[in-house]
Amino acid sequence: MNLILLGPPGAGKGTQAAKIVEKYNIPHISTGDIFRENIKNGTELGKKAQEYMNAGQLVPDELVVEIATDRLNADDCKNGFLLDGFPRTVFQAEKLDEFLAAKGDKVDCVLDIDVPRDELMIRLTGRRVCKNCGASFHVVNIPPKQEGICDVCGAELVQRADDNEETASNRIDVYNKETKPLVDYYEAAGNIAHIDGTTGLENVFNTITEILGD
Ligand code: AP5
Repeated sequence: MNLILLGPPGAGKGTQAAKIVEKYNIPHISTGDIFRENIKNGTELGKKAQEYMNAGQLVPDELVVEIATDRLNADDCKNGFLLDGFPRTVFQAEKLDEFLAAKGDKVDCVLDIDVPRDELMIRLTGRRVCKNCGASFHVVNIPPKQEGICDVCGAELVQRADDNEETASNRIDVYNKETKPLVDYYEAAGNIAHIDGTTGLENVFNTITEILGD
């Protein structure tokens, strides 16, 4: 099962990804998480990516395609994968198709989660993530049991550097300009499913499992 999660920043891709990989037992590949891990560890890749991410801009295609295809070459991707945040441009989608075609493989399904802009802004600016395990919460929608503390591991919850009002708004603009054209790209390929992302966590997940089946 080769899957892609598409949708604007804050649509709930990471939230649904956690549930999908648990049910279908495939690896979750988030290019945003890979970059954030590299920034945390102070690597060269992290240094290159940080400037773009903090401005809400896309990291250059060549860099992203290389790290994504490297990750897809790993053994745990042999029976499928869930891509979250990649591809994000038509160029990246074409490179992914070429990479899979060379292995006699293809994208099976693109799950496109849609949420209106006002709701995205509320979700992004209210999101808090665990410094230690990366679990995601929302100050109003999905509050932790104890304010500022992760329910999963007890570590401190923080706001992502790109979740402030200005950068979040910029990220949505960049999505509409650079990534939205992928909807037409995958419509043409005939493998995209559209999902209303405003119906609550469990309802969104139920819709996804109805689309993917067992
Ligand atoms: P990335 O890390 O991929 O971020 P993103 O796409 O902006 O998506 P988010 O992680 O912000 O949101 P999400 O859809 O996962 O929502 P979540 O589940 O957390 O990318 C970050 C940056 O890295 C980019 O800006 C770029 O610079 C760079 N980058 C990454 N990939 C790249 C690529 N391929 N090319 C170039 N650059 C790249 O949910 C959000 C909030 O809403 C949470 O608080 C959650 O609790 C809440 N929530 C979730 N679902 C619901 C629901 N159903 N109802 C109510 N609340 C909900």
